[in-house]
Amino acid sequence: MTKKAIILCGGTGSRMFPLTHSVNKQLLPILDKPMFYYPLSLLMLCGIKDFIFIVNKNQEQNFRNTLGDQNDLGIKVRFVAQEKPRGLPDAFLITEKFIKNKSVAMILGDNFFYGNMLSPLIRETFKLKDGCNIYLYPSKKPSSYGVVEFNKKNQIKKIVEKPKKTTSNSIITGLYVFDKNVISFTKLLKPSKRKELEITDLLKIYKSKKKLKAEFLGRGGTWLDTGNIEDFYNTSSFVSAVENRQGLKIACIEEIALKQKWIKKIDIKKALKFYGDCNYSQYLKRLLK
Ligand code: DAU
Repeated sequence: MTKKAIILCGGTGSRMFPLTHSVNKQLLPILDKPMFYYPLSLLMLCGIKDFIFIVNKNQEQNFRNTLGDQNDLGIKVRFVAQEKPRGLPDAFLITEKFIKNKSVAMILGDNFFYGNMLSPLIRETFKLKDGCNIYLYPSKKPSSYGVVEFNKKNQIKKIVEKPKKTTSNSIITGLYVFDKNVISFTKLLKPSKRKELEITDLLKIYKSKKKLKAEFLGRGGTWLDTGNIEDFYNTSSFVSAVENRQGLKIACIEEIALKQKWIKKIDIKKALKFYGDCNYSQYLKRLLK
């Protein structure tokens, strides 16, 4: 079972300038929570308790302050600074000593996943013994993403990063789980034309060894890339609509930790001190009843 996960919170955030000139986008709000709460909560729901946050060199303290060193979630959090954005697979090179010889999940800090059956499905794939698992979602604008093309037998034929033209609408979302070979395979990669290590090149290595598996998230679930301005705002509207209807919060990390029995109600009381008098605290108070 995969026990560790990397949350990628670095990058230049250039698609969101001027908002991200001085702050990492993953700290920006999606409705009433920092963006990274959402991918973090998905993985907590999948049973992951050991996290490595990749952050920009000058942003580590901001992340620590936001997560709150004193806010106990029953999880382990480490921060590793990335000198500069050398691409998604660089995360494996700079965390080698933490991953060791184990399987690891990786999620992009700007990806939003929501859906009933999502965490059971993903948790199942985290049992992987070897290979790599990716999660696909339909998109009407596949050229902005990594794309998977299939042959007539529905086998993966081709993987392309941001293709100008493609016949497929199956895009690769920003969640991956890799077996223990991930570091040695990453070391084989060469930077692309845009001078980054490409995640799709790593996936191609797994494919060439017939070790790449793809899971369709299906149209019943929701996936949004909050790293572009349009989806950034759409996601807040989505969260607001669902939360208002249900009276339940999406990505309340303390609620998830409590549900997983990683913390007790007394820890929620400590969290209340950390959050102070805000809407989020009102929700936490309800959990104590
Ligand atoms: O969102 C899904 C897409 O994410 C996939 O379909 C693509 O295959 C994959 O390459 C990636 O594409 P993006 O263009 O969206 O990647 P972006 O450069 O925006 O980086 C994604 C996240 O990773 C973002 O939160 C910033 C962070 N990041 C990025 C780089 C390049 C890092 O932490 N370090 C980096 O070096």
